Amino acid sequence: MTSTSLSLRCIGRRADTHDVTSWQFVAAEGTLPAVLAGQCVTLHTEIDGQPQPQCRAYTLSSSPHDPCWQVTIKDVGRVSHHLHQSLQVGDQIRADGPFGDFNLTALPCERPLLLSAGSGITPMWAMLRGELARRPDADIRFVHSARSPADVIFADELTALAEAHAGLRHALILEEAPAAHPWVGRLTPSMLKELAPDLLDRHVYLCGPAPYMAAVSTMLADLGLPAAQLHQESFGLPAVTSGAAPVAAVGDHFWLTLTKSGKKVKILPGQTLLAALEEAGVRINAACRAGVCGSCRCTTTGEIERQSVATLTPAELEQGVVLACSCTARGDIGLDC
Ligand SMILES: Cc1cc2nc3c(=O)[nH]c(=O)nc-3n(C[C@H](O)[C@H](O)[C@H](O)COP(=O)(O)OP(=O)(O)OC[C@H]3O[C@@H](n4cnc5c(N)ncnc54)[C@H](O)[C@@H]3O)c2cc1C
Ligand code: FES
Repeated sequence: MTSTSLSLRCIGRRADTHDVTSWQFVAAEGTLPAVLAGQCVTLHTEIDGQPQPQCRAYTLSSSPHDPCWQVTIKDVGRVSHHLHQSLQVGDQIRADGPFGDFNLTALPCERPLLLSAGSGITPMWAMLRGELARRPDADIRFVHSARSPADVIFADELTALAEAHAGLRHALILEEAPAAHPWVGRLTPSMLKELAPDLLDRHVYLCGPAPYMAAVSTMLADLGLPAAQLHQESFGLPAVTSGAAPVAAVGDHFWLTLTKSGKKVKILPGQTLLAALEEAGVRINAACRAGVCGSCRCTTTGEIERQSVATLTPAELEQGVVLACSCTARGDIGLDC
């Protein structure tokens, strides 16, 4: 499936929780492209006083059989806050996509266990609804973690869905819960074993804040889940945080040479190519900044380490094509820009 650039018209807006809102869209012209449940788009928006449009990736929380697209966004920072403040019914917004391999079509399985926390529910919600539309009797476990009942996104819809589908079992793990709530605190191995006794026979789909994902993936490995049965999507950078890796010693950096201009840029061990370029004032396309969309691809020479190869073909890998947002240097390198 190829991704595309299109203009969306907002036809609905709904507050889901105190800091999460969903927007519904149709194509401003023509029809919406096909999408797989769990894929995302990048939304482009102009923020007053900023020279360039800003873009961020958002999962479509709608299911492929819905007549419109929906995104569900938590108000956490610059772009999400701007969208919460400004994006209204009738507005148009540019989107690229859909893209992403985190979906039950690319990674099919008979009995999924969908684990999410916070706004990480969005791909799970799309996959859950998509899968139940395709297989109404599917055996699915849906376990979502949130701080309190007020923070649970799609709470009523989830209950209604579980009432309509006997094969769906769901549980909410709440840090602050009413006295009668059965699952209190954070997800534990014993909760997992109780909620999915056949855990090792399932494929697990995981999405949420980085600490949650790290804790749960370790827990699943300790419980014996084979790595091939765990599929995860991060809403942030994949394996390294741009610019955040410690420098071992003063002067411990490599040189990144831009082959077209001859310009040399310092790159630190563990720093992504994208972060090094941006620090040096070199702008390249980077829509999702998380190794998902492929918009930051460029060709390198020299020794590099890739944290994501999403959208890259074996031939491109052979030619040194990398995703600048998800690639670090292991020595001096060249870049075709
Ligand atoms: C593939 C993909 C799909 C995504 N889907 C969604 C989605 O469906 N809904 C959604 O709300 N966001 C989603 N995101 C995150 C989104 O792209 C932005 O990163 C997020 O909105 C923050 O951007 P900002 O400009 O508001 O924050 P910035 O000003 O860039 O600040 C970022 C800060 O917010 C934190 N942060 C980022 N995302 C979240 C989050 N969801 N919850 C809590 N803290 C966060 C980061 O750790 C960082 O501290 C997705 C990201 C990716 C890569
Ligand atoms: S910006 Fe999307 S893969 Fe790098």
